[in-house]
Amino acid sequence: MGIPIKNICCIGAGYVGGPTMTVMASKCPYLNFNVVDINKERIASWNSDNLSKLPIFEPGLKELIVKTRNRNLFFSTNIKEAIESADIIFISVNTPTKTQGLGAGKSSDLKWVEASAREVAKYSKGHTIVVEKSTLPVRTAEVIENILNSAETNSKREEISFNVLSNPEFLAEGTAIKDLENPDRVLIGGDNQKAMIALSNLYKAWVPEEKILFTNIWSSELAKLTSNAFLAQRISSINSISAICEVTGADVREVSRAIGKDTRIGSKFLDSGPGFGGSCFKKDILNLVYLAEYFDLHDVAKFWESVVEINSWHQKRITEIVVKKLFGTVANKRLIILGFAFKANTNDTRESAAIKICRDLIIEGADLIIHDPKVNPKQIEEDLQIKQFSEEEQNEKSTIKTIHGKWRFSKSLEIFEEAHAVLVLTEWEEYKHIKWDREFKKMVKPAWVFDSRSIVNAEEVQKTGINLWRLGDGSIEKEKDIFK
Ligand code: UDX
Ligand code: UDX
Repeated sequence: MGIPIKNICCIGAGYVGGPTMTVMASKCPYLNFNVVDINKERIASWNSDNLSKLPIFEPGLKELIVKTRNRNLFFSTNIKEAIESADIIFISVNTPTKTQGLGAGKSSDLKWVEASAREVAKYSKGHTIVVEKSTLPVRTAEVIENILNSAETNSKREEISFNVLSNPEFLAEGTAIKDLENPDRVLIGGDNQKAMIALSNLYKAWVPEEKILFTNIWSSELAKLTSNAFLAQRISSINSISAICEVTGADVREVSRAIGKDTRIGSKFLDSGPGFGGSCFKKDILNLVYLAEYFDLHDVAKFWESVVEINSWHQKRITEIVVKKLFGTVANKRLIILGFAFKANTNDTRESAAIKICRDLIIEGADLIIHDPKVNPKQIEEDLQIKQFSEEEQNEKSTIKTIHGKWRFSKSLEIFEEAHAVLVLTEWEEYKHIKWDREFKKMVKPAWVFDSRSIVNAEEVQKTGINLWRLGDGSIEKEKDIFK
């Protein structure tokens, strides 16, 4: 007989746990989903009647929340109760890169995963399938298993038992709902057939059987890291080519199109941009690097580390180009930053290229106006670690010299007055429709648009007389760069 499943618990109501459980609840209305989190504010936002207050923005999420919330999907901070009743527990907490101690800067901090496993060990009843949903370093399942096994042997409670499975999530932010509803594959790693089948039955409600892959637990963990490392590597590769395009007169869009037609290469993930961001790519590659170093595979470690190094170099390169084009200085010049999220259709800013680029420009003395349709200015302040400029505070402290530039946030796009340049850093749809002939009149001349996402209409921008720099477009460079 199979393992009976009725109640599901997910620890961690973040960018992964929240949408994943929402989609599962919509596809499996006969099961109950309890999503728990230690963060009270986050849970209150998930429960808010005002759906624009959900803690994360994802196209299609609101609609599913309306259908499922308080029907078979519940958000709460009652971790004990959710664990007690659960047949399957997904661990979906964050695993940031360690900032200190052994493996600092590379390995993931597993303290939240360990804490979650300990909570499971403390409160679970009967048989429980524990599923790693968070992306984790290879062999983390062992840590979870150790904690749970020790509870199994030492518990005074009757008959508690566990199976640990790895079931990494491959959703990308901004398309999370679509990715969850129609995944390329569902990966289930483990060594207990019954538990693996029980978990796969959940997915079978909407995922065709041939897309559900069974592997051993270590392959599953490593496959997730490898998948992200390969995707990130493609972006670093194409971004490195963009630099070559700019100096040779080639156009990276044309190069991408040409190589993408090769079915062995494929056309996805070949868009040159300001450098990859997001909570996963850098962290997962660094985990791979740490793993390789740990096993004395130093050349392997160097190979993957270079993917991250090129990404940082590339972000710095963009700042340098902006400064160079603006006659070598941006001090006291108003620059408009279009987009702060690490990609469009999300309010997430983790590892966004905008953080480094904006910080560097502020340090160079620029006066930034930052626009983003979904990111909150408080988040920007936290990311930049520089307070938002306020006129009042400035007047009070007018005797104090500012050592660098400043930034302020704008919700509206009426911000082009007196601007020397515009930098497009996130590919939000609304930036494609800016009326450049209207904005040009307000800008300081010579005015510049730096498009790191290739979304502005180049012809329209250039028609107005604005100088355009597009990432990886050597053909524009050749025509326009009179300052070299
Ligand atoms: C995910 C994955 O789980 C992580 O492994 C991946 O590499 C990055 O993305 P994500 O959902 O994006 O994490 O993280 P986040 O949005 O920070 O959400 C994690 C949630 O877990 C937070 O709301 C946090 O409060 C919660 N949490 C953390 C707990 O409920 N308990 C803990 O002990 C620790
Ligand atoms: C990624 C993986 O795609 C997903 O499978 C995994 O589960 C989590 O990590 P995510 O980080 O949410 O998802 O977004 P993704 O679309 O992969 O973009 C990551 C970064 O790469 C963004 O900064 C994006 O702008 C950039 N990118 C992506 C490019 O610069 N060019 C591209 O062609 C694609």
